Amino acid sequence: MSVVQVAVPPDGGPMRTGTPVTARAPIPQLEDCVLSIADHFTETFHAEHREVRDLLLALIDAFKGGDSARIRKLVETLSAAIGPHFRYEEEAMYPGLLPIFGGDHVDKLLSDHDDTIRSIRELAELAEVAMLNDLEEVGEDQAARGIELVRAILPHVSDCDGLSIMVETLPEDDVVHILATRDVARETDADLLTWARTMRARRV
Ligand SMILES: [Fe+2]
Repeated sequence: MSVVQVAVPPDGGPMRTGTPVTARAPIPQLEDCVLSIADHFTETFHAEHREVRDLLLALIDAFKGGDSARIRKLVETLSAAIGPHFRYEEEAMYPGLLPIFGGDHVDKLLSDHDDTIRSIRELAELAEVAMLNDLEEVGEDQAARGIELVRAILPHVSDCDGLSIMVETLPEDDVVHILATRDVARETDADLLTWARTMRARRV
């Protein structure tokens, strides 16, 4: 099995004592701490979703504060972060999950991405209008719409993060393929709106 080594304290950490015997899987001890490819994927996946979650929460704050320059910067950063992420999900992870979920749910996942692309596009337009009009502060209606759009994206972040529990059941070669596709997507570095407009097969 391919593994990713992680640092382990020299003393191996505290021993568990008095643990009741149950049918549950044994809890790994620190000395056994090597990450499988699936664990490595899950950690990577969580980290990307945390980044997007934090950007979305910061964007809500920026809309509440009416800071158009900050809103624009956050929308650009969000689009840059989500582009490669969606790309490897659609090009490698969703096809890998198709035998588990079946076509209907994979269509739902793609439709969720469509919704997010539309929301980010509208957020970018909101930010652009505010900047073009040279408004230092966005209006109340714009801010309310912006917050509504961000809140529509947020549940997709937590829903998507749960997919890792299915990815960890895939053959190791499939997970390696997902991670390799991720590397290519990150090297290409197309933001969400550019990818959706020029590379994605599905048009919204
Ligand atoms: Fe995701």
